[in-house]
Amino acid sequence: MEKLKGLDMEGKRILDAGTGGCNMTKFLEDWGARVVSIDVREDWQKECREMATDSEFITADLTDMKFIKENTFDYVICNFVISALSQNKDLLITAALREFYRVLKKQGMLVIIDYYPFEAELCPGPCDNIQIELWRLENTVAEMLGKGHLEEFSPAVLERELISIGFSDTDSSILLEEVPWPTDIFKEHEETIKEDINKIEEDYLRGAFRRKLKEIMKKAEGSVIKSGSIYELRAEK
Ligand SMILES: C[S@@+](CC[C@H](N)C(=O)[O-])C[C@H]1O[C@@H](n2cnc3c(N)ncnc32)[C@H](O)[C@@H]1O
Repeated sequence: MEKLKGLDMEGKRILDAGTGGCNMTKFLEDWGARVVSIDVREDWQKECREMATDSEFITADLTDMKFIKENTFDYVICNFVISALSQNKDLLITAALREFYRVLKKQGMLVIIDYYPFEAELCPGPCDNIQIELWRLENTVAEMLGKGHLEEFSPAVLERELISIGFSDTDSSILLEEVPWPTDIFKEHEETIKEDINKIEEDYLRGAFRRKLKEIMKKAEGSVIKSGSIYELRAEK
């Protein structure tokens, strides 16, 4: 995957929005950037602090970064974070996008790398029906419990939002057309859904969701699931 192609990160002040597994923080640091890495989850940052020793870490919510002055960063990088924002609480991603705009320098750039929505009509690559069914079930069960869940946005929708916030120019392209879903990822989602189903109080609903999950997993047996595509969106302040 050719992320961040043609961009020069050396010596630049960069906000890695959503430390997560440290992939981006470490990558940017190795590239010579001056990185501030923010995540709401301190536990995620613990390991990354040891891996990226020249970067600064802050545990905070990206939708409220009052502690950072406006016009601070050359780049804000969101590597698989936009789809994760609604996992923590019901928020309008606009709040995070506005904060990214505020902390960017004039002509600074926001880069968003993420999945297209897993819907055949919104995704340019193949969208496997089995994976779509599993995704819908996971989200439905989470919503029944009042929990947040992953939510993908189409780059076209984000671009409209970014322009309305004040970004002057936006551009998006397909980074990867086909994303294979290995069996272990499928199993991880199965486990999450099972745990959530067990928390539902109504017997009849628990039963119905369990049957649906079993049916999907049976269909997935022996199939190679390739689903979804990944985009890179760039927006200049
Ligand atoms: C899929 S991971 C990101 C991976 C990371 N960028 C990387 O490249 O390795 C998503 C991260 O976003 C963080 N996150 C989600 N909502 C957030 C919020 N409102 N503020 C800060 N971090 C948030 C999660 O805690 C999680 O660590």
